Amino acid sequence: MSIPRTYSFARYLTAKQSVDDRALNGHVWQNLVAALPRAAPEQPLHILEIGAGLGTMVERLCAGGMLTNTIYTAIDLEPTLIAEARRRLPQWAAAQGWQVQQDSPAQLHVQRPGQDIRVATEAIDVFRFIAREQGQRFWDLLIAQAVLDLVDVPTTLPALLSLLRPGGLLYCPITFDGGTVFQPELDPELDVAIEACYHQTMDRRLVAGKPSGDSRTGRHLFAHLQAAGAEVLAAGSSDWVVFAGPNGYAADEAYFLHFIIHTMHSALTGHPHLDAERFTAWIAQRHAQVEPGTLVYIAHQLDVLGRVPAPLGETRE
Ligand SMILES: C[S@@+](CC[C@H](N)C(=O)[O-])C[C@H]1O[C@@H](n2cnc3c(N)ncnc32)[C@H](O)[C@@H]1O
Repeated sequence: MSIPRTYSFARYLTAKQSVDDRALNGHVWQNLVAALPRAAPEQPLHILEIGAGLGTMVERLCAGGMLTNTIYTAIDLEPTLIAEARRRLPQWAAAQGWQVQQDSPAQLHVQRPGQDIRVATEAIDVFRFIAREQGQRFWDLLIAQAVLDLVDVPTTLPALLSLLRPGGLLYCPITFDGGTVFQPELDPELDVAIEACYHQTMDRRLVAGKPSGDSRTGRHLFAHLQAAGAEVLAAGSSDWVVFAGPNGYAADEAYFLHFIIHTMHSALTGHPHLDAERFTAWIAQRHAQVEPGTLVYIAHQLDVLGRVPAPLGETRE
């Protein structure tokens, strides 16, 4: 594809879906399946997903058949993404043969034999959500996919874990962990400098004046979970590996690549440690490598499954 003139975050998240599908760590996924408590009509599973974007994880979990009776709450800061999730999810479910009932714009009810899932969507900042729900509602599973590297984990994690019932699970797939690799090398020294500066923008990110990012969130999660009193049940890598096969890039992954390059361009324009002319030429070359399918992109990430302690006798089977 040629270089896009404009960029859409929603299209990026859609394009990301096939990249995530390949990347998600099967070992961690199987441990999640094994650790999920059994649900029943009178005792549904309660799942909360933060930074849910378009709801692609809802689709993945429904399709995987691992959810039986479930009440799923999906929140995201961006109203446009939640609006798109509300448009996509019923269409997706109907196309997959689910019986679909729209109880209200924010409440979707999908059923098929053996599965009964209610999905509530809400556009809200996770910190406002925590303040509202803390001590009021408790979830069996909290999902944060490609989100924790956008917040200050040491302060956010304890608040998130307080939303879990005793023995509740935290599943954090696609957590960035300090690797942004492009092949072929263009200029080894510049390639390395750009990667370092890009990661530095994550480490120095401030949201509302507060630190909000860590380019090595994945590896730091082990200690953060331990400090917050949770145990790690499973962990493994979930690197994005995007390359052109015999039929070119899969699905909309050429767009995905352009979006990543564009994001780096926006983040690093004017960076004092990069020569502006050389950096602009580097960005142009990376975009130009997409059309002939020569660009390979690898991002190092980790999937982590954690659990908060349950007092003896309180574990839900
Ligand atoms: C990289 S995207 C990942 C989206 C989705 N989890 C996925 O993997 O496709 C990060 C998401 O987190 C959301 N987000 C960022 N900060 C947030 C906050 N403070 N509260 C709620 N959502 C937030 C963004 O709007 C975005 O949709």
